[in-house]
Amino acid sequence: MSDELVTDHDLSRANTLGLPCIAERFAAPTSVPALRERLHYAARQGLPVTVLGGGSNLILPERLPGLVLQPALDDWWLEERSDRVLVHAGAGVNWHALVMALAAGGLWGIENLALIPGHCGAAPIQNIGAYGVELCDVLEAVHLIHMDDARERELTPGECGFGYRDSIFKHELAGRVVITRLVLRLSRTPRPRLEYGDLANRVGVAPTALQVAEAVCQVRHEKLPDPAQLGNAGSFFKNPLVSREVADRLLSDYPELPYFTQPDGRIKLAAGWLIERCGLKGWRRGHFGVHDRQALVLVHFGGGSASELLEFAAAVAGQVAERFGVELEREPRLAG
Ligand code: EPU
Repeated sequence: MSDELVTDHDLSRANTLGLPCIAERFAAPTSVPALRERLHYAARQGLPVTVLGGGSNLILPERLPGLVLQPALDDWWLEERSDRVLVHAGAGVNWHALVMALAAGGLWGIENLALIPGHCGAAPIQNIGAYGVELCDVLEAVHLIHMDDARERELTPGECGFGYRDSIFKHELAGRVVITRLVLRLSRTPRPRLEYGDLANRVGVAPTALQVAEAVCQVRHEKLPDPAQLGNAGSFFKNPLVSREVADRLLSDYPELPYFTQPDGRIKLAAGWLIERCGLKGWRRGHFGVHDRQALVLVHFGGGSASELLEFAAAVAGQVAERFGVELEREPRLAG
């Protein structure tokens, strides 16, 4: 990585879907001052700015105009407090590497979020979550820079508008800020969360944080395709949140439908189940397919484009809507 500004930069290896993409201009600033300088440059030139993290939750077009910035702020450090440990992690830190390092150091809080691909800077955008834990459960602060005037700011979790796979960074602040650093609140006191799926069966009675993280890696390896082998962006759709009435109607026809009641009374349905029930698990058309072990994941076999992927996804969502009357919402964001 370097602060250098390059033109016609190939991003096909910088997105886990493996979509072909050329960035008109690209820079990977290694410090906050370098990042601000690039933002000033884009503002002076009137260039649109796209921020790229690990490219694991993004659908890239074949050509991205303007300036693509991939913050390479990849340092992290601990701040010991009496009752907790604060972890400061730069936006460019690899999320999974951080989880494993902290779990190995006996710190509890994010071990259930092992093996989620991507960089720390992207984690608050979709409020990453897995196996009963969400980022917002352990987040202390988000540091960011406003794109228009390079102003620095620190947001509290309450200001981030977190929800299921949702945050202010997908709404009011979408395309307006660059996240530079996260502060996480971890603990040295063991507090394993093993309620989800069969996690409890995979570890002993008093597991270490590292053992829990390793069990999570095992489950993910079994179900989810490795982007290095097969292009994908994890879950392609969100699990839909429906009213109690809609859920009751579906449950009377399909009593085996998995569902999870939310604190606000709405019901979260398992989109993977709905897709599988349409007979689409393992379905392939052209360069894309529905993963054969987890129907919520769409995979790219190579040679396809963003528009073909969106058409394929619309065909999947269309069948679910027709059969169950439930709309599926896309999870990865569209760039450009
Ligand atoms: N299911 C099926 N068929 C499938 C997939 C799932 O019937 O092909 C059923 C399962 O049997 C289970 C239920 O659906 O009863 C839930 O499945 P699973 O535990 O695999 O989780 P998910 O709801 O499909 C969500 C997250 C994942 C996360 C897991 C575990 C979303 C959009 N996805 O998937 O996150 O790893 O829970 O917590 O919420 C991601 O966001 O990229 C991601 C992988």
